[in-house]
Amino acid sequence: MALAVVLLSISVLLISPAHSLTCTSQRLTNNKKPYDSCLDLPTLSSYLHYTYNATNSSLSIAFVSTPASPDGWVAWAINPTAKGMAGSQALIALKSSGSLVVKTYNIISYSNLTESKLSFQTWDLKAESGASGTTVIYGKLKVPEKAETLNQVWQVGAQVANGHPMKHEFKQANLQAKGPLNLVKKPGSLTPASAPTPGTPGSPGVPSPDRGGQSMIRANVVGLFMGLVLFLVTVSAL
Ligand SMILES: *[C@@H]1O[C@H](CO)[C@@H](O)[C@H](O)[C@H]1NC(C)=O
Ligand SMILES: *[C@@H]1O[C@H](CO)[C@@H](O)[C@H](O)[C@H]1NC(C)=O
Ligand SMILES: *[C@@H]1O[C@H](CO)[C@@H](O)[C@H](O)[C@H]1NC(C)=O
Repeated sequence: MALAVVLLSISVLLISPAHSLTCTSQRLTNNKKPYDSCLDLPTLSSYLHYTYNATNSSLSIAFVSTPASPDGWVAWAINPTAKGMAGSQALIALKSSGSLVVKTYNIISYSNLTESKLSFQTWDLKAESGASGTTVIYGKLKVPEKAETLNQVWQVGAQVANGHPMKHEFKQANLQAKGPLNLVKKPGSLTPASAPTPGTPGSPGVPSPDRGGQSMIRANVVGLFMGLVLFLVTVSAL
């Protein structure tokens, strides 16, 4: 039995590194003052650092994600009217004429992304290349007075054409890249809209394993499964 416990502990140790990849360990070069809160977003290996100032209803953010290819884009948006992509007011970081810039888009519908001012005030927008191929979007925005929760949406894409972002993939991880941003409560991490079911890899509920965040979940499920097998094998051998 003691052996079983040791084996189980080892398997837990083996899967824990995935959990250590959280926003609290990230160092951002741009912020003189650390952000008040940090959210490990549930999909697409994305992170939001933010400070909300209720006195003047402003939100200062640093969004960290990785473009789907080195010449791709990353986006973070607030949707003032709905929970999904349509209607989002987006900050999109992409390379335009060779330099990394932040552009603002009104995502009127799935087929109409119009580069324009957003429906709220934004300032100090800036994009930077971060560690390990990440892109960081810095920015400040005005939020509605006394707002408690905002709808946020984030996304990554592989292609940019003529300075505009091209379509992203439509995998689970992309489609689930949305959630609440609670300004008043301190965050834990967001939980995915539908959590993968342990022990049934490959079922439709399990997100595709090819992007970071999701592959970590898959790795954890497999790790846990292997831990259980080891545990059962050991118990039955006693
Ligand atoms: C919030 O904004 C007000 C008004 O601009 C400012 O006086 C105050 O210092 C800000 N608070 C923080 C924590 O930055
Ligand atoms: C609100 O306060 C923050 C922090 O002091 C400051 O950066 C920002 O410019 C202010 N926003 C507005 C709209 O005055
Ligand atoms: C996108 O929406 C804007 C504003 O409604 C409109 O002016 C424009 O023609 C639309 N573009 C396309 C490609 O539908």
